Amino acid sequence: MIENNELILLRPSKDLENQIMEYKRDFMQYNEKIGKVKNNINGSCSLHNFNFDEWLDRVNICASDENLSPYGTIASTFVAVRKSDNKIIGTIQVRHTLTEELRDDGGNIGYAVRPDERKKGYATKMLNLALEFCRSLGLYKVLIDCDKTNIASAKTMIKCGAIFDRELNIPQSDGGVETLHQYWIYL
Ligand SMILES: CC(C)(COP(=O)(O)OP(=O)(O)OC[C@H]1O[C@@H](n2cnc3c(N)ncnc32)[C@H](O)[C@@H]1OP(=O)(O)O)[C@@H](O)C(=O)NCCC(=O)NCCS
Repeated sequence: MIENNELILLRPSKDLENQIMEYKRDFMQYNEKIGKVKNNINGSCSLHNFNFDEWLDRVNICASDENLSPYGTIASTFVAVRKSDNKIIGTIQVRHTLTEELRDDGGNIGYAVRPDERKKGYATKMLNLALEFCRSLGLYKVLIDCDKTNIASAKTMIKCGAIFDRELNIPQSDGGVETLHQYWIYL
């Protein structure tokens, strides 16, 4: 069990369908743009792109078969559930190894907190729990990146011990560039 006194990280399952779809609806209504990316639910294994059953299959494949995983490595996706009322507060995903692609864009960990529960310390708590999971995998450092303008994400990881590594420009399909900041957390 990956948990603290307030939150528990659970692997998605069919019995969480209603809560997960409600979580997705909240994000879709919020219509968020992070850097150049619109309506993404970070750390969710692309919940925004699939219906529930397709998504659950995808989550399970990513967690079990690196050859079929679109990340090119095993990826463990968790929902963070608040113990007091069983509300899903966020999503967080751990990519177990760094492929060349993830080294340049994506890193080991992605996360999001639902819009109505932000600025309450939940992302920091979720990330600390995910770091415990990373330790249990035997990882000794993890890479996390965020758009240069994503102050909330940078602050979250810095609170969990992240050290700035480098800035890099990722060419986009529309001809523009996204500027990423990459950080390491030593476990
Ligand atoms: C990034 C995100 C996960 C932060 O979640 P959160 O639960 O609000 O974060 P926390 O409450 O743990 O706050 C962590 C730190 O960030 C700060 N912070 C949070 N939101 C902020 C904002 N909009 N602007 C500036 N600082 C912010 C907090 O004040 C806190 O710092 P402090 O303790 O020094 O005051 C959330 O904003 C989110 O889901 N964003 C969209 C998805 C995303 O960007 N994911 C990361 C992709 S790399």
